[in-house]
Amino acid sequence: MADLKSSYGGVEMKNPLICAAGPPTHTPEACKRASDAGFSAVVLKTHAAKEAPWGLLHTVGTPVYILTDLKGTDFWRPIPPKKSLPKVRGIKGERKPEYSMVGCHPGVILSYFLGEDYIKYASKTKDLVKHDCLVIGSIVAYTEEGWIEQCELINRTNVDLVEINLGCPCALPEEQCYPGVIPGAALGASPSVVEAFTRIAVDHLHVPAIVKLPPQQSNSLLSAQAAVRGGAAGINCGDSSFFPSVRINIETATPGWHPRYPVWHGIWGPWVSPYVCGQIANMRLNGITVDISACGGTSSFEDIVRFFMAGASSAQPCRELMVQGWDVAKKWLEELEAWMEKKGYNSVMEMRGIAADKIITDYSKLDLPIPQIMGGPEPKYKMVFDDRECIDCAWCEMCCSHLAIKIESGLPNWDSKKCELCGLCEAVCPVKAISMVPK
Ligand SMILES: Cc1cc2nc3c(=O)[nH]c(=O)nc-3n(C[C@H](O)[C@H](O)[C@H](O)COP(=O)(O)O)c2cc1C
Repeated sequence: MADLKSSYGGVEMKNPLICAAGPPTHTPEACKRASDAGFSAVVLKTHAAKEAPWGLLHTVGTPVYILTDLKGTDFWRPIPPKKSLPKVRGIKGERKPEYSMVGCHPGVILSYFLGEDYIKYASKTKDLVKHDCLVIGSIVAYTEEGWIEQCELINRTNVDLVEINLGCPCALPEEQCYPGVIPGAALGASPSVVEAFTRIAVDHLHVPAIVKLPPQQSNSLLSAQAAVRGGAAGINCGDSSFFPSVRINIETATPGWHPRYPVWHGIWGPWVSPYVCGQIANMRLNGITVDISACGGTSSFEDIVRFFMAGASSAQPCRELMVQGWDVAKKWLEELEAWMEKKGYNSVMEMRGIAADKIITDYSKLDLPIPQIMGGPEPKYKMVFDDRECIDCAWCEMCCSHLAIKIESGLPNWDSKKCELCGLCEAVCPVKAISMVPK
């Protein structure tokens, strides 16, 4: 049997699936559902310091969500599964895994557990989840005093680890913030702030601290390095809540994904996972050795494998559980194990970083030909057009920015002297009648 054992913040976990902070963990009972479904850890909702902006502490009601296709045009809902495990399908019953989720309401229900209530939330969760399911606290603050206050609160809980949530933007006025915090910007986007806040937390916490970085970054590597300098035992990389997003209705010239809520929205989706893989691989290639948890866009067991191969040692889904339910974890773990056995991987940790290590970051090592248009040689490859398959749609001609394809008598005529082998004609051909082959 493949070994799924993994670790986060240096603490061993029975498998690499962590239930991310959010609605799937917002009560002890919800955390129990996650634990029953097989998650090896649950991250509690973030507790914000008293100084936190009003909007974070006092959100009204629960958020409202919609599901939409990736362009945001086609609102759709899954058909409830009848038997076995859920399959997300569109209104017409079509399989539609490529959807985004939009939070239409500013509420993120951070205010559920304030102060003493957070201690009860943590300890009840500890009581309800299985003994081998870690409970991870989560805190955010904006000033030194705020962080100390948060750490003291966490020290009174029995959580196993803590996430320092630097993914939230700060809405305090500049004069009330720690030096370097940019009001309106995610805390984790500024390396000096990451280092300072991590150090304060590490100095005051009794359990290992992991830094959760936001997706809004100019260079996440710098923030990850700052977190490690500050003493972080791990990095939570990604978070897919791209914020703020706004959808414009061009018929009514109004903002908002939802007519009732013309406000900023967060948007989550599977399109984030390649970005998360890139961030993690970059961290690995630049010497970050602490455990990295991949958070953002997890939609299948294949995503978990991709995250590992990029350099992560766990995956933290949220959105997909909100849509499909916690039990999707069971399915992913079974699929992961079966796939690893088929491929001959003995342990998940063995897959860690194996793809990242093959990334060529020095472009001078690539065999990049000088383009013909710049006087370079004729390419070593050629495009081959299968006239029997061609349906004369002329898409290849339309998309060729080098003007190397011309439809003549219903068939594409290719000019090798103009072609730069970009491969776009091959990519767009609806009947796969075009291929690139060595000359
Ligand atoms: C409604 C909602 C509330 C969330 N609340 C928190 C939170 O309190 N703390 C936190 O660190 N992340 C929070 N998140 C972010 C998730 O933990 C996760 O980083 C994000 O959803 C990306 O993962 P996904 O693409 O699998 O959804 C929240 C996400 C959602 C959708």
